[in-house]
Amino acid sequence: KVEKRGCDHVFFIGFLGAGKSTLARNLGGMFNRRFVDTDRMVERKMRMSVTKIFETFGEKEFRALETRALESLSRDKSLLVSCGGGVIETPANIEIMHRLGYCVYLDGDIDDSLRQIRRSDTRPDFRSAEHATALLEHRRPLYKQAADFTVDIRGRSFTDVSYSVAELL
Ligand code: S3P
Repeated sequence: KVEKRGCDHVFFIGFLGAGKSTLARNLGGMFNRRFVDTDRMVERKMRMSVTKIFETFGEKEFRALETRALESLSRDKSLLVSCGGGVIETPANIEIMHRLGYCVYLDGDIDDSLRQIRRSDTRPDFRSAEHATALLEHRRPLYKQAADFTVDIRGRSFTDVSYSVAELL
């Protein structure tokens, strides 16, 4: 365990479809800890979906909203936070997460994500496997740089991953 930082939140980072939100929700139930999802926080604030925010205001505005959502968590304590897959694209976000707690990277393969991407309604440009693969390769070093802990989720059951992460809480 890393020393407690700031509000000792646990931030789950990782590519689309790595299971961040599901894990945060289930661990919240197991450990009676509140969980939040930065995408949902932004959607609530803007009263529209992430997809609509991208279409209406563009990615730059979404990233600013995402950073503001992270900063607002300084008013809370001990949350499990599921972060959007692109949170590490904004360098300031890594500093905020390290100030407010610690990062757990759910490290999976692109095929773990592609199934999810095809099912979910995230940004249309994710639909192409080539784009998603290139994006993950671009981001993997950023996830690893931000991570205090990395949990390999490749070929592992959700329950198995949950136990690995639970040991960190
Ligand atoms: C994004 C991932 C999404 C959401 C937005 C941008 C990305 O979050 O924040 O569509 O850039 O990878 P999830 O990873 O929770 O789907």
